[in-house]
Amino acid sequence: MTTVFSSMLSSAAVSAVLSQASDGTLVFPAQASDVAPAVDKLFYAITGISAFFFVLIVSVMTWFVLKYRRRPGHEVQPSPSHNAPLEIIWSVLPSFILVGIFAAGFMIFLDMRRVPDGAYEIKVSARKWSWAFQYPNGLVVEDLHVPVGQPVKLLMNSQDVIHSLFIPAFRVKQDLVPGRYADLWFRATEPGSYRLYCAEYCGQQHSNMTANVVVHAPGEFEKWLRAEEDKLNNLPPAELGALLYKRQGCAQCHPNDTTTTGKAGPSFAKTFGTQQKLASGETVTIDENYIRRSILEPLAQVRAGFQPVMPTYQGRLRENEIDALIAYIKSLNQ
Ligand code: CUA
Repeated sequence: MTTVFSSMLSSAAVSAVLSQASDGTLVFPAQASDVAPAVDKLFYAITGISAFFFVLIVSVMTWFVLKYRRRPGHEVQPSPSHNAPLEIIWSVLPSFILVGIFAAGFMIFLDMRRVPDGAYEIKVSARKWSWAFQYPNGLVVEDLHVPVGQPVKLLMNSQDVIHSLFIPAFRVKQDLVPGRYADLWFRATEPGSYRLYCAEYCGQQHSNMTANVVVHAPGEFEKWLRAEEDKLNNLPPAELGALLYKRQGCAQCHPNDTTTTGKAGPSFAKTFGTQQKLASGETVTIDENYIRRSILEPLAQVRAGFQPVMPTYQGRLRENEIDALIAYIKSLNQ
């Protein structure tokens, strides 16, 4: 079916979507973690049981409606009080089925909650409206990179409101509540790229709060980690700033051109050195100190026309990273 459609549609984008869809089923995306097959099996079992009883109950009901309909020559009869064997069957049998469904679900839930010893730990930070993934060496990236076949534990917290990390291909989802840590674990089974979503409505740009999950083939993950670290240590400040602009989530709210509108924060482009009005009515010059203060105390000097919604980056950026962001903003004046 997919191949017929693909040959009919010439657009590369459409066939890309179709070939991606063919990795999964009509209902589910590809199964890419070791818990996924069990989750799907249970889902199909519950759907099957529901469909069976739907057909059974509606058929019997229809049959009764026709058989006992009011018609000439048939008088209303007094109904029998009850039928004990029948009532026992229709109470006890469904109870067993429901307990069975609970037990199957509970076993899978336990598998999902019990983090294996020695799981690779990655810190996840969520804020309106982006994700940051931090590795044991301190590296922070905007997409989640994990090794294949190894248990990975995500230790997660939220900087502002409730978010929910959801990786459909892994069949895992966990809410992140501000003020406490939540964890989640999985073992990816197939190298590739998958989507990660925020599954809890968290404001204006909730639907843009997505990331990629890159599952690396054996040996590739360590190589990626080392290469990223080297890259960071050797970049000129403005380029490091450009990278941090994406990784630290600035890009979600601050455009880096002058044409994009409707974002939650002011543009970084052609802004350095200009005079700008604040919400308080004062006028400031956008210089190094203004930018630095805005990163560390975002609510202190909010630009006119913008809501005070930016989370603080106090303790989340090193000095050289703040320098790099300032250098990046300066570079956007050209
Ligand atoms: Cu974060 Cu929705």
